[in-house]
Amino acid sequence: MKAIVFLSFSLIVLSVKGWPMVKKSFDFFPNDAYAHIHVISDCMHVASEPGDYVFKKVPHLMANVKEMPLVEAALEESTSEVCGLYVIGEPDTIVEITMKHYDVNCATGGLMAFVDGWELNGEYFPGIKDHHRELEERVVEFCNNYKQWPRVANKKFFRSSQNAALLQYRIPFRGSFIAHVRFHKITQPCNVLVQDTAAIFNMANFGNQRNCTLTALFPAAVAVTSLKIGGKNVRGDKVNYDCGAFEDRLEIGGSSGLDSHAMEKASDVCGISEQQGPEQAIFCGVTTARLISTGRYQNHAAIMLRKADENDLDIATLVCAL
Ligand SMILES: *[C@@H]1O[C@H](CO)[C@@H](O)[C@H](O)[C@H]1NC(C)=O
Repeated sequence: MKAIVFLSFSLIVLSVKGWPMVKKSFDFFPNDAYAHIHVISDCMHVASEPGDYVFKKVPHLMANVKEMPLVEAALEESTSEVCGLYVIGEPDTIVEITMKHYDVNCATGGLMAFVDGWELNGEYFPGIKDHHRELEERVVEFCNNYKQWPRVANKKFFRSSQNAALLQYRIPFRGSFIAHVRFHKITQPCNVLVQDTAAIFNMANFGNQRNCTLTALFPAAVAVTSLKIGGKNVRGDKVNYDCGAFEDRLEIGGSSGLDSHAMEKASDVCGISEQQGPEQAIFCGVTTARLISTGRYQNHAAIMLRKADENDLDIATLVCAL
């Protein structure tokens, strides 16, 4: 316990100075035991590196006592914002989060939740209908019930189904946690949240009946660099950008929120091609490519995706409402 208190204290002191100073201070230590500790400072904190993520909330009544009457200050303390550690890994990984420590008191309104995916404004990635698990199974809530303490184990362990996971927390008064983040490689990724602003992504059904989405949280220019979707009878021997009538297809489109079921479609692609097709720009907050597979075919698509800017307006196929 003492070690944690000391650690949190020194991290808070150091974090005020910013990272360069922190790194220098760590030079005093004989090894780099602290090199993988990340201090959570923003309410929406995006994490793409493995390691320990530390959050601590202390009432700051003392600092404000001169400027603010006590009652007002206490009210401010009790506003209970929901914040999140948004974890994203490489496309072919899943996220593992181990709660090394948490002190989030249920009795004072504290609550944490692990989400298998990301949640923004009530919408989920992967979309509720596209995930093999029910939403109730995807969200696991927990907090410390100190009436039962110390009989209940404090350790918690979670794994996501794709490269995105979220640790949500609401800590109205005081509390802390240390979450350890790891990534594990998987061989058949399906839903992928895009981290890079320019890359080529492979989507495949591996012969399964499943729908997979590739989702980027920015307006993007998209091109199909190679694909094989559907059977010979439907696809012929070339690429077809008007496959809405076929079950096996690649939908390209966008939406203003995370849920891909609400997306507006710009094109439905199927067929076969080894050559890069034309670029199209999706001017939406969220850009999505969705591979729909009945399981009757081995479907595969390679998709080039990059951040779109105003120079791409002339290749726009979809503009979402602002
Ligand atoms: C895949 O998506 C299609 C079209 O949105 C839907 O009809 C089908 O039920 C979905 N399949 C699975 C396995 O979710």
